[in-house]
Amino acid sequence: MTRAATADRGQTQGLRTRNTSRFSSLRAFATLALLGAAVTLPQAAYGALYTDPATLPANKAYDYIIIGASPGGSVLAKRLTEVAGTNVLLIEAGPNDAGVLPIEVPLLSSQLQPNQLWDWNYTTVPQSALNQRVIQYPRGRVLGGSTSINFMIYSRGSEDDFNQYAEVTGDSGYSWSSIEPYFRKLERLVPPVDGHNTQGEVDPSVHGTSGPLNISVPGASLPTDSHVVQVTQELPNEFPFNVDMNNGKPIGVGWLQGTLGGGARVSSSVAYVQPIIDSDNLDVLIDTTVTKLIKTDTQNGQPVFRGVQFAQSSTSPLYALNATKEVILAAGAINTPQLLMLSGLGPASALRAQGITPILDIPAVGQNLVDHPMLTNQFGVASADDDLIENLSRNATFAGDLVGEWIADRMGVMVTAGQNHVTWLRMPANDSIFKTVQDPSAGPLSPHFEFLVVPGFLSYAQAPPDTGFFMTILTIIVTPTSRGSVTLSSSDPFVPPTIDPNFLSTAFDRAAMRAAVRSAVRFASAPTWKGFLTGPAASFAGVDVNDDDALDAWAREQTSTIWHPTGTARMGKCGDSSVNSVVNPDMTVRGVVGLRVMDASVLPFIPAAHPQAAIYAFAERLADLIKSGKSSC
Ligand SMILES: Cc1cc2nc3c(=O)[nH]c(=O)nc-3n(C[C@H](O)[C@H](O)[C@H](O)COP(=O)(O)OP(=O)(O)OC[C@H]3O[C@@H](n4cnc5c(N)ncnc54)[C@H](O)[C@@H]3O)c2cc1C
Ligand SMILES: *[C@@H]1O[C@H](CO)[C@@H](O)[C@H](O)[C@H]1NC(C)=O
Ligand SMILES: *[C@@H]1O[C@H](CO)[C@@H](O)[C@H](O)[C@H]1NC(C)=O
Ligand SMILES: *[C@@H]1O[C@H](CO)[C@@H](O)[C@H](O)[C@H]1NC(C)=O
Ligand SMILES: *[C@@H]1O[C@H](CO)[C@@H](O)[C@H](O)[C@H]1NC(C)=O
Ligand SMILES: *[C@@H]1O[C@H](CO)[C@@H](O)[C@H](O)[C@H]1NC(C)=O
Ligand SMILES: *[C@@H]1O[C@H](CO)[C@@H](O)[C@H](O)[C@H]1NC(C)=O
Repeated sequence: MTRAATADRGQTQGLRTRNTSRFSSLRAFATLALLGAAVTLPQAAYGALYTDPATLPANKAYDYIIIGASPGGSVLAKRLTEVAGTNVLLIEAGPNDAGVLPIEVPLLSSQLQPNQLWDWNYTTVPQSALNQRVIQYPRGRVLGGSTSINFMIYSRGSEDDFNQYAEVTGDSGYSWSSIEPYFRKLERLVPPVDGHNTQGEVDPSVHGTSGPLNISVPGASLPTDSHVVQVTQELPNEFPFNVDMNNGKPIGVGWLQGTLGGGARVSSSVAYVQPIIDSDNLDVLIDTTVTKLIKTDTQNGQPVFRGVQFAQSSTSPLYALNATKEVILAAGAINTPQLLMLSGLGPASALRAQGITPILDIPAVGQNLVDHPMLTNQFGVASADDDLIENLSRNATFAGDLVGEWIADRMGVMVTAGQNHVTWLRMPANDSIFKTVQDPSAGPLSPHFEFLVVPGFLSYAQAPPDTGFFMTILTIIVTPTSRGSVTLSSSDPFVPPTIDPNFLSTAFDRAAMRAAVRSAVRFASAPTWKGFLTGPAASFAGVDVNDDDALDAWAREQTSTIWHPTGTARMGKCGDSSVNSVVNPDMTVRGVVGLRVMDASVLPFIPAAHPQAAIYAFAERLADLIKSGKSSC
């Protein structure tokens, strides 16, 4: 993970339009991103890949039309086409991911957003609890969706989280014991590319070894690695070592597991779509945006939605197709609620306000947006040798050499995502916030917050200094209680919706962030860092961590996101008539026939983990449910 920065707060405040931020991350890499675009393979090489709707086979009947090559959409495309005679059309708004260098090279992830070729380039509304700052809100717009531009952290989440999913949905199929076999089914634990002995870094008995999705521990070391491990020996009570945080019990400090194999990123496209892209029964249409879902019939008084309308741009021809069985919406936590609302499925009065005739009043569409707030806390480091990020951003020769090494043999630090460990922790039980607020975590196995240690200066609110050497500890709240929304700003499908994650708007979230920063400061005060760290960096040095108000001010000024929006079309119990959910436990849209959702929007609460693993597993389970012909309700 690397930095993005706007020049100063003054410029960030009130930023409303896209593409105006002074994004200055890793300046030396700029030409590499262009190189990546230039090496995109000719798309004619792929049999079933269509770049123009006009060239789709005429009169072919599709059983399923899947909207969005997200992890949800990609898993279903593969699994549903495993049934002979089942035809699937996968429609993706963005381009092909194959052969794009910055998508493949893990450490070039920072080049993929914000405001790059593979990004929707969203921004939030000014955040009222963050000094009215506008936050960049990248989402992948490419085969693989956000898994083609993400930072590849693979974390399943805790047993308690999954058992709570089962409770909230009334479906025991979401419990840890039911979902854990799906994690094994989708994973293929592979050795890191440097071939080092991984004993003590991962527990192979926890993992699958023959699934489509490669995962591995990092294949190159970072200057912070030995110190992070040493902290677990020096301060084991607060920071216990955890050999495998994906065993259902994540608390502690452990080696990162990433969606990485052979030194390269593994997205849902790489794992699920590209290997079958020549199949006769899968057609993949890229560069094409679904603009609306179409009501095709009424059945037992319920609207049937088996039609989709799509176009390549706001000025190009509109096309329409019907699925014979189902339309599966997998357009992600932002675009799925947008498409539902554009199609007349959503909060009726909000739709009318945009001139859209409601077909079914579903108040929860676009509501309950939850995301993980992330704060960057910078420390000085003594030696230039220990700061990878500044080395890269200030020395184009160094960066170029590393990319060259990756191209030559897929080795070197470019095979990492820029952090090699993850830390999951709970707030102290005696934190005074618990006198007034109930613990929002799913249970004692679930963390409240997370750390990531990055060897360099990272900030999404200020420019990196031109001199000095740094390490950043990211503090992330993984059980936030703030709730935001995605609402329509226009009935035009090519106009972005209004996105409000409402970060740090609750007393709990602010208290959790204070607890996380204090814990990070204790982490950085362990004896092992003596001589390595020089103390808080100038940016952070003025913050009195003993003072709640000072910490709150720091959080308001610096907090951004770790890009995990969820919950905007969330799952509830079968027949739930409350206004709080959108889909049934089998992901069918309640009150609608022929339409399911399978992406981050269905999660009824945000996992206390990076969400891609849970989404892959839920999609694998849904594929089995669809194949079995059973419904949950
Ligand atoms: C920068 C970044 C870093 C992240 N890091 C991590 C990480 O390290 N670990 C982790 O677990 N998670 C990470 N995530 C989150 C993770 O990638 C997502 O949770 C995951 O991809 C699921 O997202 P989603 O379901 O919202 O859909 P997405 O993955 O966003 O996919 C939605 C897809 O639908 C397409 N689409 C949307 N609208 C339309 C339309 N109208 N017509 C056709 N196609 C459409 C999009 O172009 C896109 O391809 C990160 C996300 C980002 C953005
Ligand atoms: C996002 O911005 C980049 C850079 O300006 C651009 O190439 C890309 O097309 C934009 N994406 C969208 C969806 O507009
Ligand atoms: C998985 O990783 C192995 C190396 O361990 C590599 O050879 C293979 O190509 C990767 N496959 C995918 C689909 O990522
Ligand atoms: C989809 O189905 C509807 C209702 O049966 C029909 O009117 C429409 O023509 C169909 N569209 C296509 C493209 O076949
Ligand atoms: C930074 O660059 C110097 C000189 O090129 C090199 O010796 C050092 O190892 C680099 N440090 C990291 C962390 O890459
Ligand atoms: C830049 O990197 C190159 C290659 O690693 C190294 O030889 C050179 O000394 C570096 N320059 C500086 C100023 O550190
Ligand atoms: C909470 O408990 C810890 C020991 O577990 C103690 O060090 C700390 O002072 C306590 N804090 C408060 C606010 O009571």
